[in-house]
Amino acid sequence: MTIELTYYGHACFSLKTEDTTLLLDPFLTGNPLATVSVDTVPADYILVSHGHGDHIGDAITIAKRTGAIVIANFEVATYCQNQGVEVHPMHIGGGWDFPFGRVKLTIAHHGSSLPDGSYGGNPCGFLITIQDKTIYYAADTGLFYDMKLIGEEGVDVALLPIGDNFTMGPKDALRAVKLIEPMVVIPMHYATFDLINQNPNVFARAVETETTARCVVLKPGESYSF
Ligand code: NI
Ligand code: MN
Repeated sequence: MTIELTYYGHACFSLKTEDTTLLLDPFLTGNPLATVSVDTVPADYILVSHGHGDHIGDAITIAKRTGAIVIANFEVATYCQNQGVEVHPMHIGGGWDFPFGRVKLTIAHHGSSLPDGSYGGNPCGFLITIQDKTIYYAADTGLFYDMKLIGEEGVDVALLPIGDNFTMGPKDALRAVKLIEPMVVIPMHYATFDLINQNPNVFARAVETETTARCVVLKPGESYSF
């Protein structure tokens, strides 16, 4: 089975299998890098890592149009449910077997206030297992040593922030790759705004020189299949 991963800029990706499309942190409105429209992007499930506007983004609008189920921590899920969308609440350390595969919430060191200022619980990352492929979506986070534990689950593709300022920068993201030991790393959460300007090719060179992982740099709109 092949999974098609598409980058929509910032921290937004879709993961497409034969019959299911997962959309991660769908920040499209106001995302200068977005290459897809809120009115057409497909989704069966929408995974939201935390409450910040550049992550919850257009989740509710897209869920209402598509009928997609929002997967998030309890607080973010409740916020979405109160706006009339179907949700599946989870929390850190917990996993669930969905029809498409398994999702486990991982820790992330960051904030999670919601657009209306209410409490969005603890931010999280996602460990997504679809058949024999495991994807680690770190979301917004600083470096933490427990990434080594996440890596012990056998990560095929790691999606890591490199933007610095709000999350890990390239140097800590490189240390993260050494802890996780994924087959492939894809950088995200950079170049959207001046505060997070980074050159992903410099990061990619460091990954390929100093680790055994392959670094795939996706331009917004590009896909990687594995
Ligand atoms: Ni954030
Ligand atoms: Mn962010």
